[in-house]
Amino acid sequence: MTELNIKKLEEQIITQINEAQNIADIEQIRVSSLGKKGSISAQLAKLGKMSPDERKIAGPIINGLKQKITALIEQKLKELKAKELEERLKKEWVDISLPLNEAPIASGRIHPVSQVIDEISAIFSDMGFSIAEGPDIETDYLNFTALNFPSDHPAREMHDTFFLPPNEKGEKKLLRTHTSPVQIRAMKKIEEEAKADWVTEPIEPPIRVIMPGRTYRCDSDQTHTPMFHQVEGLVVDKSSHIGHLRWVLEEFLQSFFEVDNIKTRFRPSFFPFTEPSMEVDVQCDRSEGGMKIGQGTDWLEILGCGMVHPNVLRNGGLDPEIYQGFAFGIGIDRLAMLKYGIADLRAFFDADVRWLDHYGFRPLDIPTLFGGLSS
Ligand code: DAH
Repeated sequence: MTELNIKKLEEQIITQINEAQNIADIEQIRVSSLGKKGSISAQLAKLGKMSPDERKIAGPIINGLKQKITALIEQKLKELKAKELEERLKKEWVDISLPLNEAPIASGRIHPVSQVIDEISAIFSDMGFSIAEGPDIETDYLNFTALNFPSDHPAREMHDTFFLPPNEKGEKKLLRTHTSPVQIRAMKKIEEEAKADWVTEPIEPPIRVIMPGRTYRCDSDQTHTPMFHQVEGLVVDKSSHIGHLRWVLEEFLQSFFEVDNIKTRFRPSFFPFTEPSMEVDVQCDRSEGGMKIGQGTDWLEILGCGMVHPNVLRNGGLDPEIYQGFAFGIGIDRLAMLKYGIADLRAFFDADVRWLDHYGFRPLDIPTLFGGLSS
Protein backbone atom coordinates (compact mmCIF):
# COMPACT_ATOMS: atom_id res chain seq x y z
CA MET A 1 0.00 0.00 0.00
CA THR A 2 1.25 3.36 -0.88
CA GLU A 3 1.58 6.27 1.44
CA LEU A 4 -1.29 7.87 -0.41
CA ASN A 5 -3.54 4.88 0.23
CA ILE A 6 -2.65 4.97 3.93
CA LYS A 7 -3.65 8.62 4.00
CA LYS A 8 -6.96 7.76 2.38
CA LEU A 9 -7.57 4.95 4.88
CA GLU A 10 -6.89 7.40 7.70
CA GLU A 11 -9.35 9.94 6.29
CA GLN A 12 -11.95 7.26 5.84
CA ILE A 13 -11.68 6.02 9.42
CA ILE A 14 -11.64 9.56 10.81
CA THR A 15 -14.85 10.37 8.88
CA GLN A 16 -16.45 7.24 10.31
CA ILE A 17 -15.38 8.24 13.83
CA ASN A 18 -16.76 11.73 13.37
CA GLU A 19 -20.06 10.40 12.13
CA ALA A 20 -20.44 7.79 14.87
CA GLN A 21 -23.71 8.38 16.76
CA ASN A 22 -23.33 5.99 19.65
CA ILE A 23 -21.05 3.62 21.51
CA ALA A 24 -22.09 0.68 19.32
CA ASP A 25 -20.99 2.60 16.16
CA ILE A 26 -17.60 3.33 17.66
CA GLU A 27 -17.16 -0.31 18.74
CA GLN A 28 -17.84 -1.31 15.19
CA ILE A 29 -15.20 1.13 13.89
CA ARG A 30 -12.72 -0.21 16.43
CA VAL A 31 -13.31 -3.79 15.21
CA SER A 32 -13.21 -2.84 11.55
CA SER A 33 -9.95 -0.91 11.91
CA LEU A 34 -8.02 -2.24 14.89
CA GLY A 35 -9.64 -5.69 15.32
CA LYS A 36 -7.90 -8.92 14.20
CA LYS A 37 -9.28 -8.59 10.70
CA GLY A 38 -9.36 -4.82 10.75
CA SER A 39 -8.01 -2.54 8.03
CA ILE A 40 -5.13 -1.17 10.11
CA SER A 41 -4.24 -4.66 11.46
CA ALA A 42 -4.07 -5.85 7.86
CA GLN A 43 -1.52 -3.12 7.10
CA LEU A 44 0.48 -4.04 10.21
CA ALA A 45 0.54 -7.69 9.11
CA LYS A 46 2.07 -6.62 5.83
CA LEU A 47 5.07 -5.09 7.63
CA GLY A 48 6.47 -8.56 8.39
CA LYS A 49 6.66 -9.39 4.74
CA MET A 50 8.48 -6.22 3.71
CA SER A 51 12.19 -5.79 3.17
CA PRO A 52 14.01 -3.98 6.01
CA ASP A 53 14.29 -0.85 3.87
CA GLU A 54 10.60 -0.81 3.00
CA ARG A 55 9.72 -1.51 6.65
CA LYS A 56 11.83 1.43 7.83
CA ILE A 57 9.62 3.76 5.84
CA ALA A 58 6.22 2.05 6.16
CA GLY A 59 6.60 1.04 9.86
CA PRO A 60 6.35 4.52 11.44
CA ILE A 61 3.54 5.51 9.08
CA ILE A 62 1.32 2.51 9.86
CA ASN A 63 2.13 2.50 13.59
CA GLY A 64 1.48 6.26 13.65
CA LEU A 65 -1.91 5.63 12.05
CA LYS A 66 -2.71 2.94 14.65
CA GLN A 67 -1.83 5.27 17.54
CA LYS A 68 -3.74 8.19 16.07
CA ILE A 69 -6.91 6.13 15.44
CA THR A 70 -6.70 4.47 18.88
CA ALA A 71 -6.51 7.92 20.49
CA LEU A 72 -9.36 9.31 18.38
CA ILE A 73 -11.57 6.30 19.20
CA GLU A 74 -10.87 6.75 22.94
CA GLN A 75 -11.65 10.44 22.71
CA LYS A 76 -14.90 9.87 20.80
CA LEU A 77 -15.89 7.11 23.21
CA LYS A 78 -15.48 9.48 26.14
CA GLU A 79 -17.63 12.12 24.46
CA LEU A 80 -20.36 9.64 23.56
CA LYS A 81 -20.43 8.21 27.10
CA ALA A 82 -20.84 11.70 28.57
CA LYS A 83 -23.61 12.49 26.08
CA GLU A 84 -25.44 9.26 26.81
CA LEU A 85 -25.25 9.88 30.56
CA GLU A 86 -26.64 13.37 30.11
CA GLU A 87 -29.53 12.05 28.04
CA ARG A 88 -30.27 9.33 30.58
CA LEU A 89 -30.29 11.86 33.41
CA LYS A 90 -32.73 13.98 31.45
CA LYS A 91 -35.10 11.07 30.95
CA GLU A 92 -34.72 9.10 34.16
CA TRP A 93 -35.86 11.56 36.91
CA VAL A 94 -38.12 10.79 39.80
CA ASP A 95 -41.01 13.11 40.63
CA ILE A 96 -40.77 13.47 44.39
CA SER A 97 -43.49 16.11 44.72
CA LEU A 98 -46.79 15.17 46.36
CA PRO A 99 -50.07 16.38 44.89
CA LEU A 100 -51.85 18.91 47.14
CA ASN A 101 -54.97 17.90 48.94
CA GLU A 102 -58.05 18.88 46.99
CA ALA A 103 -59.55 20.68 49.98
CA PRO A 104 -58.17 24.21 50.70
CA ILE A 105 -56.03 24.32 53.81
CA ALA A 106 -58.15 25.52 56.69
CA SER A 107 -56.53 28.51 58.42
CA GLY A 108 -57.70 29.82 61.78
CA ARG A 109 -58.63 33.38 62.57
CA ILE A 110 -57.20 35.86 65.03
CA HIS A 111 -59.90 37.00 67.46
CA PRO A 112 -60.57 40.76 67.28
CA VAL A 113 -59.50 41.11 70.93
CA SER A 114 -56.11 39.49 70.22
CA GLN A 115 -55.76 41.62 67.10
CA VAL A 116 -56.48 44.82 69.02
CA ILE A 117 -54.07 43.83 71.84
CA ASP A 118 -51.38 43.36 69.18
CA GLU A 119 -52.19 46.73 67.61
CA ILE A 120 -52.12 48.51 70.99
CA SER A 121 -48.84 46.79 71.91
CA ALA A 122 -47.24 47.78 68.61
CA ILE A 123 -48.26 51.44 68.97
CA PHE A 124 -47.06 51.77 72.57
CA SER A 125 -43.87 49.80 71.83
CA ASP A 126 -43.07 52.39 69.18
CA MET A 127 -43.46 55.09 71.85
CA GLY A 128 -40.91 53.30 74.07
CA PHE A 129 -43.32 51.51 76.43
CA SER A 130 -42.64 47.99 77.62
CA ILE A 131 -45.38 45.42 78.21
CA ALA A 132 -46.15 43.68 81.51
CA GLU A 133 -48.77 41.24 82.71
CA GLY A 134 -50.22 40.29 86.08
CA PRO A 135 -52.35 37.35 87.26
CA ASP A 136 -56.14 37.17 86.83
CA ILE A 137 -56.49 35.94 90.43
CA GLU A 138 -55.33 38.86 92.54
CA THR A 139 -55.05 39.73 96.21
CA ASP A 140 -57.56 42.13 97.74
CA TYR A 141 -54.54 44.18 98.79
CA LEU A 142 -53.21 44.79 95.25
CA ASN A 143 -56.62 45.09 93.58
CA PHE A 144 -57.94 47.63 96.12
CA THR A 145 -55.92 48.58 99.21
CA ALA A 146 -52.60 49.36 97.52
CA LEU A 147 -54.52 51.44 94.99
CA ASN A 148 -55.80 53.70 97.76
CA PHE A 149 -59.30 52.22 98.08
CA PRO A 150 -60.03 52.60 101.85
CA SER A 151 -61.42 49.36 103.33
CA ASP A 152 -64.89 50.82 103.85
CA HIS A 153 -64.86 53.14 100.88
CA PRO A 154 -67.92 52.97 98.59
CA ALA A 155 -65.51 52.87 95.63
CA ARG A 156 -65.12 49.16 96.36
CA GLU A 157 -68.82 48.76 95.64
CA MET A 158 -68.30 50.37 92.23
CA HIS A 159 -66.71 47.13 91.23
CA ASP A 160 -69.01 44.13 91.62
CA THR A 161 -66.31 41.72 92.54
CA PHE A 162 -66.06 37.93 92.21
CA PHE A 163 -64.40 36.72 95.42
CA LEU A 164 -62.82 33.28 95.77
CA PRO A 165 -63.42 31.13 98.88
CA PRO A 166 -61.03 32.13 101.71
CA ASN A 167 -57.75 30.18 102.02
CA GLU A 168 -56.50 28.60 105.28
CA LYS A 169 -55.25 32.01 106.48
CA GLY A 170 -58.72 33.44 105.93
CA GLU A 171 -57.58 35.60 102.98
CA LYS A 172 -60.09 36.01 100.20
CA LYS A 173 -58.52 36.34 96.79
CA LEU A 174 -60.56 37.75 93.93
CA LEU A 175 -60.77 37.90 90.16
CA ARG A 176 -59.15 41.26 89.47
CA THR A 177 -61.75 43.89 88.65
CA HIS A 178 -59.30 46.00 86.63
CA THR A 179 -55.71 45.90 85.36
CA SER A 180 -54.67 48.67 87.78
CA PRO A 181 -53.11 46.22 90.35
CA VAL A 182 -50.41 45.52 87.75
CA GLN A 183 -49.28 49.14 88.31
CA ILE A 184 -48.12 48.17 91.81
CA ARG A 185 -46.59 44.95 90.48
CA ALA A 186 -44.72 46.96 87.85
CA MET A 187 -43.47 49.54 90.37
CA LYS A 188 -42.34 46.88 92.81
CA LYS A 189 -41.29 44.37 90.18
CA ILE A 190 -43.53 41.77 91.83
CA GLU A 191 -43.34 38.66 89.74
CA GLU A 192 -44.02 35.88 92.18
CA GLU A 193 -47.23 35.38 94.06
CA ALA A 194 -45.34 34.80 97.34
CA LYS A 195 -43.91 38.32 97.18
CA ALA A 196 -47.25 39.92 96.40
CA ASP A 197 -47.67 42.14 99.43
CA TRP A 198 -44.26 43.21 100.57
CA VAL A 199 -41.72 45.45 99.00
CA THR A 200 -39.14 43.72 96.87
CA GLU A 201 -36.44 45.91 95.38
CA PRO A 202 -38.22 49.00 94.09
CA ILE A 203 -37.30 49.74 90.52
CA GLU A 204 -35.72 52.97 89.43
CA PRO A 205 -38.01 55.16 87.33
CA PRO A 206 -38.44 56.10 84.53
CA ILE A 207 -41.23 53.55 84.22
CA ARG A 208 -43.13 53.37 80.95
CA VAL A 209 -45.28 50.31 80.73
CA ILE A 210 -48.59 49.07 79.40
CA MET A 211 -50.38 46.12 80.97
CA PRO A 212 -53.08 44.41 78.90
CA GLY A 213 -55.19 41.57 80.29
CA ARG A 214 -58.47 40.00 81.35
CA THR A 215 -60.62 41.61 84.04
CA TYR A 216 -63.83 40.48 85.75
CA ARG A 217 -66.97 42.04 87.16
CA CYS A 218 -70.39 40.71 88.02
CA ASP A 219 -72.21 42.35 85.13
CA SER A 220 -73.89 41.29 81.88
CA ASP A 221 -75.78 43.15 79.13
CA GLN A 222 -75.19 44.25 75.54
CA THR A 223 -72.12 46.27 76.47
CA HIS A 224 -70.96 44.37 79.59
CA THR A 225 -69.71 40.81 80.02
CA PRO A 226 -68.50 39.23 83.29
CA MET A 227 -65.04 38.87 81.72
CA PHE A 228 -63.65 41.69 79.62
CA HIS A 229 -60.28 43.19 78.70
CA GLN A 230 -58.44 46.31 79.73
CA VAL A 231 -55.08 47.84 79.03
CA GLU A 232 -53.48 49.83 81.79
CA GLY A 233 -50.78 52.40 81.18
CA LEU A 234 -48.27 53.77 83.68
CA VAL A 235 -45.57 56.40 83.33
CA VAL A 236 -43.52 57.46 86.34
CA ASP A 237 -40.58 59.84 86.23
CA LYS A 238 -39.48 62.97 88.05
CA SER A 239 -41.36 65.46 85.89
CA SER A 240 -44.05 63.62 83.89
CA HIS A 241 -47.17 65.79 83.79
CA ILE A 242 -50.70 66.03 82.40
CA GLY A 243 -49.39 67.53 79.15
CA HIS A 244 -47.41 64.33 78.54
CA LEU A 245 -50.46 62.26 79.42
CA ARG A 246 -52.57 64.12 76.89
CA TRP A 247 -49.92 63.80 74.17
CA VAL A 248 -49.49 60.05 74.75
CA LEU A 249 -53.24 59.40 74.67
CA GLU A 250 -53.89 61.53 71.58
CA GLU A 251 -50.94 59.97 69.79
CA PHE A 252 -52.27 56.53 70.65
CA LEU A 253 -55.86 57.29 69.61
CA GLN A 254 -54.73 58.77 66.29
CA SER A 255 -52.59 55.76 65.48
CA PHE A 256 -55.18 53.27 66.62
CA PHE A 257 -58.13 54.82 64.77
CA GLU A 258 -55.89 55.79 61.82
CA VAL A 259 -56.92 59.44 61.74
CA ASP A 260 -54.61 62.45 61.40
CA ASN A 261 -56.12 64.67 64.02
CA ILE A 262 -58.35 63.66 66.85
CA LYS A 263 -60.05 66.00 69.28
CA THR A 264 -60.23 64.84 72.88
CA ARG A 265 -62.11 66.22 75.88
CA PHE A 266 -60.77 65.69 79.39
CA ARG A 267 -63.54 65.76 82.03
CA PRO A 268 -62.93 65.73 85.79
CA SER A 269 -63.79 62.39 87.36
CA PHE A 270 -62.90 60.25 90.36
CA PHE A 271 -60.70 57.21 90.81
CA PRO A 272 -59.13 56.45 94.19
CA PHE A 273 -55.70 55.82 92.63
CA THR A 274 -55.34 59.09 90.71
CA GLU A 275 -55.46 62.75 91.69
CA PRO A 276 -56.63 64.60 89.70
CA SER A 277 -58.68 62.00 87.84
CA MET A 278 -60.19 62.45 84.41
CA GLU A 279 -62.36 60.74 81.88
CA VAL A 280 -61.47 61.21 78.24
CA ASP A 281 -64.01 61.59 75.44
CA VAL A 282 -63.12 61.40 71.75
CA GLN A 283 -64.70 63.33 68.95
CA CYS A 284 -67.13 61.21 66.94
CA ASP A 285 -69.98 61.38 64.46
CA ARG A 286 -73.18 59.56 65.33
CA SER A 287 -75.26 60.91 62.44
CA GLU A 288 -76.36 58.41 59.77
CA GLY A 289 -76.84 55.77 62.43
CA GLY A 290 -73.18 54.74 62.47
CA MET A 291 -70.25 55.82 64.58
CA LYS A 292 -67.19 57.48 63.08
CA ILE A 293 -64.27 58.29 65.36
CA GLY A 294 -62.19 61.41 64.73
CA GLN A 295 -64.84 63.53 62.98
CA GLY A 296 -68.19 65.17 63.73
CA THR A 297 -69.52 67.04 66.75
CA ASP A 298 -70.45 64.26 69.19
CA TRP A 299 -68.36 62.90 72.07
CA LEU A 300 -67.75 59.34 73.17
CA GLU A 301 -66.26 58.38 76.53
CA ILE A 302 -63.27 56.16 75.89
CA LEU A 303 -61.01 55.87 78.94
CA GLY A 304 -60.12 56.89 82.48
CA CYS A 305 -56.83 58.44 83.51
CA GLY A 306 -55.10 60.76 85.96
CA MET A 307 -51.95 61.63 87.84
CA VAL A 308 -50.83 58.73 90.03
CA HIS A 309 -51.96 59.36 93.65
CA PRO A 310 -49.03 59.86 96.07
CA ASN A 311 -50.33 56.97 98.23
CA VAL A 312 -50.13 54.66 95.21
CA LEU A 313 -46.55 55.71 94.49
CA ARG A 314 -45.74 55.10 98.15
CA ASN A 315 -47.39 51.65 98.03
CA GLY A 316 -45.32 51.01 94.92
CA GLY A 317 -42.17 51.73 96.95
CA LEU A 318 -41.52 55.13 95.36
CA ASP A 319 -41.10 58.48 97.13
CA PRO A 320 -43.86 60.86 95.93
CA GLU A 321 -41.63 63.80 96.89
CA ILE A 322 -39.25 62.73 94.14
CA TYR A 323 -41.42 60.95 91.61
CA GLN A 324 -44.66 61.71 89.83
CA GLY A 325 -46.47 60.23 86.88
CA PHE A 326 -49.69 59.38 85.18
CA ALA A 327 -51.84 56.32 84.54
CA PHE A 328 -54.67 55.37 82.26
CA GLY A 329 -57.06 52.47 81.77
CA ILE A 330 -58.79 51.62 78.49
CA GLY A 331 -61.42 48.98 77.68
CA ILE A 332 -59.96 46.84 74.91
CA ASP A 333 -63.23 45.20 73.83
CA ARG A 334 -64.79 48.63 73.45
CA LEU A 335 -61.92 49.76 71.23
CA ALA A 336 -62.37 46.65 69.07
CA MET A 337 -66.14 47.26 68.77
CA LEU A 338 -65.57 50.88 67.74
CA LYS A 339 -62.78 50.25 65.25
CA TYR A 340 -64.27 47.19 63.58
CA GLY A 341 -67.99 48.02 63.82
CA ILE A 342 -69.02 45.14 66.08
CA ALA A 343 -72.33 45.85 67.81
CA ASP A 344 -72.78 43.24 70.53
CA LEU A 345 -69.99 42.63 73.04
CA ARG A 346 -71.44 39.30 74.19
CA ALA A 347 -70.74 37.72 70.78
CA PHE A 348 -67.01 38.22 71.47
CA PHE A 349 -67.09 35.42 73.99
CA ASP A 350 -69.70 33.04 72.52
CA ALA A 351 -66.97 31.03 70.74
CA ASP A 352 -69.12 30.85 67.59
CA VAL A 353 -66.84 29.91 64.70
CA ARG A 354 -69.15 31.56 62.14
CA TRP A 355 -68.82 34.87 64.01
CA LEU A 356 -65.04 34.46 64.17
CA ASP A 357 -64.91 33.68 60.44
CA HIS A 358 -66.64 36.98 59.81
CA TYR A 359 -64.96 39.27 62.35
CA GLY A 360 -61.63 37.44 62.82
CA PHE A 361 -58.34 38.39 61.17
CA ARG A 362 -56.09 36.33 58.97
CA PRO A 363 -52.96 35.27 60.85
CA LEU A 364 -50.59 37.03 58.43
CA ASP A 365 -52.36 40.40 58.66
CA ILE A 366 -51.42 41.11 62.25
CA PRO A 367 -48.88 43.81 62.88
CA THR A 368 -45.66 42.49 64.34
CA LEU A 369 -44.33 43.73 67.63
CA PHE A 370 -41.23 45.81 67.05
CA GLY A 371 -39.09 45.44 70.16
CA GLY A 372 -39.81 47.29 73.35
CA LEU A 373 -41.18 44.17 75.04
CA SER A 374 -40.12 43.63 78.62
CA SER A 375 -39.53 40.14 79.88
N1 DAH B 1 -59.16 51.00 86.72
C1 DAH B 1 -60.18 51.88 86.17
C2 DAH B 1 -61.44 51.08 85.90
O1 DAH B 1 -61.38 49.91 85.78
C3 DAH B 1 -59.72 52.52 84.91
C4 DAH B 1 -58.64 53.50 85.15
C5 DAH B 1 -58.95 54.83 85.42
C6 DAH B 1 -57.32 53.12 85.16
C7 DAH B 1 -57.99 55.75 85.65
C8 DAH B 1 -56.33 54.07 85.42
C9 DAH B 1 -56.69 55.38 85.66
O2 DAH B 1 -55.03 53.75 85.43
O3 DAH B 1 -55.69 56.31 85.90
O4 DAH B 1 -62.48 51.66 85.78
